[in-house]
Amino acid sequence: RRRTAVLRREAVLATVPVAIAALLSAAGPAAASTTGTSGAGDPYFPLAGNGGYHVGHYDLTLRYDTRGRRLDGKAVLTARATQRLTRFDLDLKGLKVTSVTVGRTAASFRRSGQELVVTPRHALPAGRSFRVTVAYHGTPKPVTDPDDSADGWIPTDDGAFVAGEPQGAMTWFPANNHPKDKSSYDFTITVPKGRTAVANGRLLGQSTAHGRTTFRWRETRPMAAYLATATVGTFKVEKYTTPDGVQVYNAVDPREARAAAPVLKKLPSVLAWESKLFGPYPFRSAGSIVDHAPDVGYALETQTRPLYDSAPDLSTLVHESAHQWFGDSVSLTAWKDIWLNEGFATYAEWLYAEQHGGPSAQKTFDALYARPAGDDLWAYPPGNPGNGGNLFGSPVYARGAMTLHELRRAVGDRTFFRILRAWTAAHDGGHGTTAQFVRLAEDKSGKPLDGLFHTWLYTKGKPTGA
Ligand code: ARG
Ligand code: ZN
Repeated sequence: RRRTAVLRREAVLATVPVAIAALLSAAGPAAASTTGTSGAGDPYFPLAGNGGYHVGHYDLTLRYDTRGRRLDGKAVLTARATQRLTRFDLDLKGLKVTSVTVGRTAASFRRSGQELVVTPRHALPAGRSFRVTVAYHGTPKPVTDPDDSADGWIPTDDGAFVAGEPQGAMTWFPANNHPKDKSSYDFTITVPKGRTAVANGRLLGQSTAHGRTTFRWRETRPMAAYLATATVGTFKVEKYTTPDGVQVYNAVDPREARAAAPVLKKLPSVLAWESKLFGPYPFRSAGSIVDHAPDVGYALETQTRPLYDSAPDLSTLVHESAHQWFGDSVSLTAWKDIWLNEGFATYAEWLYAEQHGGPSAQKTFDALYARPAGDDLWAYPPGNPGNGGNLFGSPVYARGAMTLHELRRAVGDRTFFRILRAWTAAHDGGHGTTAQFVRLAEDKSGKPLDGLFHTWLYTKGKPTGA
């Protein structure tokens, strides 16, 4: 049935080239073929990301005035053209752009919704490395997502909670805003003295002058834009190195400190436990940002340093930590595959409970499976949530985890955990798709698993016969 559906789509698409050819002759073929597209091709967020280049590195210099809520930014992107480019887009929503240069030459630019359209003075040949510098400022505002949650630069009473999944990176820096494009990052963030700015990776240094403190952070491993943070607040800071040589930096809002302390204490043991199950921890830095941001309503697995809107419980810490493997190291190529992040991180919670005196994963599965056919859990299939408004619902989290549990039952524990480790090893620092995961599971188990995944990931309604 899936096969015929695909064929029918191709039949429809066959008429498209004719329409495109008509457009080309109208616009001039050269103009169309050397223009980077305004999106990365993700139907859930058509304008997210851009075509025609890859960003290798972001160097972000930011200054945030916590009282006036004004952000001053300079972004230097080191990129490589994947095609000849007479024009390309960056994603940036709100804020005022004062200049754009490509190389050393001023480029012309215009704004069009969330697109910052850049026309360099000279066309960039395919394969050329180039630097884009964008100067900008303004009052950043979060973006409202299709599910009505907010993400991006979210002001708090003492700074900002900065979490970009799925769309919000573009609210505070010009980006190729899709997880398909991963990059290293440098951050230089200046905030009023007494406030702390926390980003990803390693703290290179901090210095105070004229009533302001500048924090320099560096993330060297590839990172999707949505996983970048520059969270600002009044934080108590704790630093230490684990026996495995991972540098931990925790920043905690004092209002959350008492509740957070016993949970944060477990971070090294949680990472060690996850390393045994999922393979070596993918980064050299770790930690947590525990903010006090009562309006946010979620946590985010910001790379190396998850961000919590309040003191997390242990299960949430386990979840965000598991994302360091599933989502951060191994990233999505399309938002439709979100279960590869959320189903896996949720299953990590079940496994943690099972191995630490809580209910078995089977018991957790059974309790969910007992829910009636009309329950929200069965509202849509996790492998095909349908649109960007369904990314963070229980079908993705819980039924996604149930899918993994079914896989585990089908192949046995030994093979199941070998599959998980083979997955993280094969895609470390890169990307993975659902189809690749299914193929890997079949390879490692020697079993046909298409039926299982078809039922649990793609079939509407409550699966029968579990
Ligand atoms: N990935 C986050 C988690 O750990 C959820 C992010 C939700 N984002 C949002 N805009 N609602 O589950
Ligand atoms: Zn999650």
